Amino acid sequence: MLILGIETSCDETAAAVVEDGKTVLSNVVASQVPIHGPYGGVVPELASRKHLEYIIPVIDMALKRAQRSGKDLDAVAATRGPGLVGALLVGLSAAKALAYSLAVPLIPVNHLDGHIQAAFLGGEQPDGPFACLVVSGGHTALYRVETSGAAELLGATRDDAAGEAFDKVAKLLGIGYPGGIAIDNLASAGNPDAFNFPRALFEKDSLEFSFSGLKTAAANFIRAHGEPASETYPGGAYSIHDFAASFQEAIVDVLVTKTMRAADRFGLRRVAAVGGVAANGRLRQKLAERAGAGEMKLFLPPVRFCTDNAVMIASAAYRMWVRSGPSGSLLDVDAFSR
Ligand code: KG4
Ligand code: ZN
Repeated sequence: MLILGIETSCDETAAAVVEDGKTVLSNVVASQVPIHGPYGGVVPELASRKHLEYIIPVIDMALKRAQRSGKDLDAVAATRGPGLVGALLVGLSAAKALAYSLAVPLIPVNHLDGHIQAAFLGGEQPDGPFACLVVSGGHTALYRVETSGAAELLGATRDDAAGEAFDKVAKLLGIGYPGGIAIDNLASAGNPDAFNFPRALFEKDSLEFSFSGLKTAAANFIRAHGEPASETYPGGAYSIHDFAASFQEAIVDVLVTKTMRAADRFGLRRVAAVGGVAANGRLRQKLAERAGAGEMKLFLPPVRFCTDNAVMIASAAYRMWVRSGPSGSLLDVDAFSR
């Protein structure tokens, strides 16, 4: 079954052609990072305008690279929400028009479900239920996921998402947007034990997260000690690499601890991590160590399927279709922000 996936929930205009939810025929992502970068975050109005400009060329390119035409498609899938409504509407409206003109079903997909289904896009397919950490700019949560792709929420963040903490602290340091990658890069040359930042673990069996205390601690640290020493500002009192590594370590510790806790609590022998923050090098390394030590199987999608992309949307649509069959006409479906 051939599905065209479309994703425009934030600042990537993406389209992909995927066969049977796992064979990727094309994967096109037009990033708007250079456009939002100077503002230190996504400007919603600018994002919508750029999506409008990019959407048709991106869809055309996805079909061309897959060496398929519209009439080969069995369905068109698009992200419905959560995300920026103005941005979502561009992809969803294009998907509706295309589905209508090709007389194929439109499959609306929840962005988080898209991230979760990326767990099926690594080399090996999950062969049993798994604990899935969904960790992105807007969300941090744990799910129990069946091999059918059906997911049940186990616990989520009480306040900020992990990606949000990365982005906000990177902004305070003035090291660029998106902040997660910038901190990941700086951290690779730093000491993760240099500074002790708080880890919110809650009660022994809690699967909830909180990153607002860590964010405040990092901001207070910068206020108290001033700007860190870096290649461009050698005069600082502490190393930007050590700061980045220590801050990152606090986030990674919590994410890994809670993922393993979820697996233990529900007797799961498999774990996965998905979403933009799952691209983090240290998180991937620590998950591999802990999973190895516990003789658990780890499913980590390649980095290109962790950050926003349309392959995961087509993949989620396929599994939804297999689980519940085609729905009736969905051309009146609306985008939603949260
Ligand atoms: O999934 P995603 O692309 O978009 C959302 O759905 O939010 O995730 C974006 C988030 C941003 O907060 C970004 O800073 C973070 O993922 N991120 C990373 C890395 N790459 C992206 N965080 C830590 N380490 C990375 N290498
Ligand atoms: Zn996302």
